[in-house]
Amino acid sequence: MTDLREPTLAEALLGWFDRTRRDLPWRRDRTPYRVWLAEIMLQQTQVQTAIPYFERFLARFPTLADLAAADEQAVLKLWEGLGYYSRARNLLHAAKQVVRDFGGQLPCEFKALRALPGIGEYTAGAILSLACGAKTAAVDGNVVRVISRWSGSAWSAKSAQDRRQAADYVLAQMPDSRPGDFNEALMDLGATVCLPQNPRCAACPLAWGCQALRTNLTGALPLRDKSPAVPTEHRLLLLVAAAGLWHVRQRPSDGLLAGLFTFDWLSPNRDPKPFRIYLQGRDDILVRTLPSLMHRFSHLAWHIDALRLELPRADLDELACWLDANGPQPEGRWVDRQDLDQLPFPAAVDRYRRQELDEPFNPSPVSL
Ligand code: ADE
Repeated sequence: MTDLREPTLAEALLGWFDRTRRDLPWRRDRTPYRVWLAEIMLQQTQVQTAIPYFERFLARFPTLADLAAADEQAVLKLWEGLGYYSRARNLLHAAKQVVRDFGGQLPCEFKALRALPGIGEYTAGAILSLACGAKTAAVDGNVVRVISRWSGSAWSAKSAQDRRQAADYVLAQMPDSRPGDFNEALMDLGATVCLPQNPRCAACPLAWGCQALRTNLTGALPLRDKSPAVPTEHRLLLLVAAAGLWHVRQRPSDGLLAGLFTFDWLSPNRDPKPFRIYLQGRDDILVRTLPSLMHRFSHLAWHIDALRLELPRADLDELACWLDANGPQPEGRWVDRQDLDQLPFPAAVDRYRRQELDEPFNPSPVSL
């Protein structure tokens, strides 16, 4: 006899997933280590961007024990350009703990996972469901959107309480047999169909039961918090070279861009004009003004002006008083072009490394 009842959410979703699932590298062999790495990368990074990073990372560190034995600089280098570098440092610290406390195998246990650096509610839920087959929700912004629309609930992805409610909802609908597929189907639906703007409801396997669609509220759900305007810091970057060497400094081991390398900065709160006047009077320092750029972090933007300086000697003593105006700088070093390429640089500064260093050095007058 034909089954005339409506499908359940899980049946409709898993049927759709079986027809359309995206073939992504971390889905081919769902070990806890691979799932963990993928989920950490995907927290702030688009799928297409993450794929080559994921593959390079695993080629270099095929097992969690290989990662645990790495040094931080090598890990940051593989993360270069992905941003949110504390993810990479936490990954390394967590790997060391897992080798020490669990013999190198990520534990399939919620509390033990949550206690590892960088593993929050979402990541623990994803590892447990995708790699361990446990019935656990993994609710990120995409999933809040799907479930808030489907159930017609006025939830915000920013609210921990709303995410918990969404998790309870997901768990109540999750089939015993395929918790990982169910979670990934929700993620895929959020990423490809149930889009923030202009959701593709005509292609949605859940349109038949979607409360937001029925009540014409897809534009209003989930609730959106306006992203706050972020403060802008004006900074003057100094690409300093002498005798074929470049001067770099490693940032402190905590705070923004911790552990990464950059060129020199004029002290961020300092008026750059006196420094530029000083440079105008120094015939022995060749100067070129480079293009400015804006770089946005989540909580802050940098407006970067940049100068390339060629000094007569590999010696910063004469610039030190300008650079140290707000206290001593982290120790610097001179590196050749090849070594420079090996260091992990944040994206904002890396653009100068990639685009400016190999240009012929034509000095230009210093503008004020
Ligand atoms: N976004 C977060 N986790 C994901 C996954 N496992 N597959 C695809 N997109 C994701």
